[in-house]
Amino acid sequence: MTDGPDQAEIARVRDLLGAARHVACLTGAGISAASGVPTYRGAHTGRTVGGALWDGLRVEDWATPAGYARDPQRVWKWYSDRRVQLGELAPNAGHVALAELEKRLTARGGAFTLATQNIDALHQRAGSVNVLALHGSLLRIRCSVCPYRREVGHEPIAAIPACPDCGARLRPDVVWFGEMLPQDVWTAAADAAGDCDVFLTAGTSAVVYPAAGLVEIAAATGATTVEVNLEPTPASSLVDVALQGPADELLPQLVA
Ligand code: APR
Repeated sequence: MTDGPDQAEIARVRDLLGAARHVACLTGAGISAASGVPTYRGAHTGRTVGGALWDGLRVEDWATPAGYARDPQRVWKWYSDRRVQLGELAPNAGHVALAELEKRLTARGGAFTLATQNIDALHQRAGSVNVLALHGSLLRIRCSVCPYRREVGHEPIAAIPACPDCGARLRPDVVWFGEMLPQDVWTAAADAAGDCDVFLTAGTSAVVYPAAGLVEIAAATGATTVEVNLEPTPASSLVDVALQGPADELLPQLVA
């Protein structure tokens, strides 16, 4: 256990969650850090996807359609390696706490919406059902040109496959910098942020838009907003309660 927020703040959030009709949540890489998934930026308890791991390039420099066009094999391999590693990782207590919160809310006729920026599918593996994967999934690949997509397991796929429908190059089914989020998924997330009475953001640096804008939507429409993160972020000054600490320790306390 780390020195964290005081118990009165934890108890306040616990009561808010206990009384809520609709809880919406936004998660980022920090929630998966305790599972061994590297974060992209910020303070961390584990690894980050830093320059050392990727030839000195920042994620913003290669996780783009142009980056894939420039060096498809390199970018493909990065995602393929992540997919294989993911098969050896498991959800942590933070993921489990959110799955438990959803179960409780739905059991008493409430609603729970989990928008995640993570492409690791650990929320689903922890038992979360209403998950909006804003940035796609590492476990799916799709055609760069036509609507073809398919689920893949954790096996390595060394060579970039051609699309069986149109012959174009397949790509990871993830949202890269400069790309639109899947419109239906984004609309559902924005609707949930605007409808919820408690909005919980956990493990995100809150710098990548439009996802980071969900907390602004929630605050503007009157939800009580709560942040759980290792360090302050641009969202910290906006939320009603900012709790600093590891998500895998704090979320179980909030849901206890
Ligand atoms: N518990 C809580 N927070 C943590 C933990 C932890 N154990 N470990 C790290 N963090 C915090 C960091 O302090 C940081 O603020 O999680 C945040 C992780 O931030 P990012 O790495 O920027 O992750 P995210 O916000 O999900 O990034 C958004 O950027 O490149 C992309 O598409 C990618 O979806 C990703 C998007």
